[in-house]
Amino acid sequence: MNRKELTATMTDRHRGVKPLARIAGTGKSVPDTVLTNADLEKIVDTTDEWITTRTGIKERRIAQRGEKTSDYCVRAARAALDEAGVSPEELDFIVIGTISSDMRFPATAIFVQEALRAVNAVAYDVCATCSGFLFALYHGEAMIALKRAKKGLVIGAELLTPITDWTDRNTCVLFGDGAGAALLVEATDERGVLSTYIGSGGDASHLLYNVAHGTAGWISTRQENESDLYLLMSGNEVFRFAVRVMEKAAIEALRLAQLSLSDIDWLIPHQANMRIITATAERLGIPLEQVVLTIQRYGNNSSASIPIALDDARREGLIRDGQTVAAVAFGGGFTWGGAVIRF
Ligand code: ACO
Repeated sequence: MNRKELTATMTDRHRGVKPLARIAGTGKSVPDTVLTNADLEKIVDTTDEWITTRTGIKERRIAQRGEKTSDYCVRAARAALDEAGVSPEELDFIVIGTISSDMRFPATAIFVQEALRAVNAVAYDVCATCSGFLFALYHGEAMIALKRAKKGLVIGAELLTPITDWTDRNTCVLFGDGAGAALLVEATDERGVLSTYIGSGGDASHLLYNVAHGTAGWISTRQENESDLYLLMSGNEVFRFAVRVMEKAAIEALRLAQLSLSDIDWLIPHQANMRIITATAERLGIPLEQVVLTIQRYGNNSSASIPIALDDARREGLIRDGQTVAAVAFGGGFTWGGAVIRF
């Protein structure tokens, strides 16, 4: 179904499904260290002008050696819990979308559970690259909808700095670190998660991946192939796919929510590249004034980009009570996802 057909079929319907889960609090944590485009000019053969025009990024936040992904998750989680006035013991689940876990195992969510003393929660990670937060939200919403849980945290978190090749200008200018969290509770009125939609396509796994610590890296050693340590990406192919799938994810999420594009107050796209965001908004017919943009200050935080943007937009007063938000993401794999949320 394209945008025109969707708008036409939705106009006569009631305004959205009844939500079963609601976001009662959000939080974020980003590193203090700011790496500007001017700083990158000293590291690789690039310019502020190239990075700005090709990506929209002006600066990004970079974690320091010794910090862990779970450190950022815990701070973001505490902010979300504080806003909602919920204690860690009340949590039934902690689900984290991440591709940069503290260790290969246990899951990063286990360390977060322990740090928060969330003794009653089940804690696990989902690996869905940049769509990780929306995959985690899908799990959290489902647990509440199935009445297996009443409250839980969904988190998107990445420390991409350690898996970034700081000699490769094609990738090192793009990424940043941080975490964003949302506290889910049972919905009691029309506010809440109206839909979640996720998808994947395994035919493109060669376009964006990281071999390090995986069994596929068993055949090589660090000495044989140092590039295995780092995130590898075919930027052009990813770019083309991203625009197509972000539009599809938005339309599918709206269809599940039984809403039309005109019901959306804000679009929160995964913050990968300003040109991808602009093209997606254009295809959907959503003006840029209704698009939440954080890419200029954080770069691409992968799984963390949507929950960080959501938290910033709520705390800056952009997203207000009663407003409806569509979030859309794509990532390596490929993966994609969408969600419609009424605040
Ligand atoms: N500074 C200067 N020049 C550069 C830089 C840089 N930082 N990076 C690349 N170039 C050069 C290239 O070498 C190339 O030079 P050449 O023509 O002499 O060969 C030229 O710029 C053009 O390169 P392209 O790759 O064609 O540039 P493009 O316009 O496609 O932009 C980019 C590259 C920004 C990576 C874009 O393709 C993109 O954003 N792709 C999507 C990335 C993404 O969203 N990834 C998914 C999320 S990550 C995840 O899932 C973990």
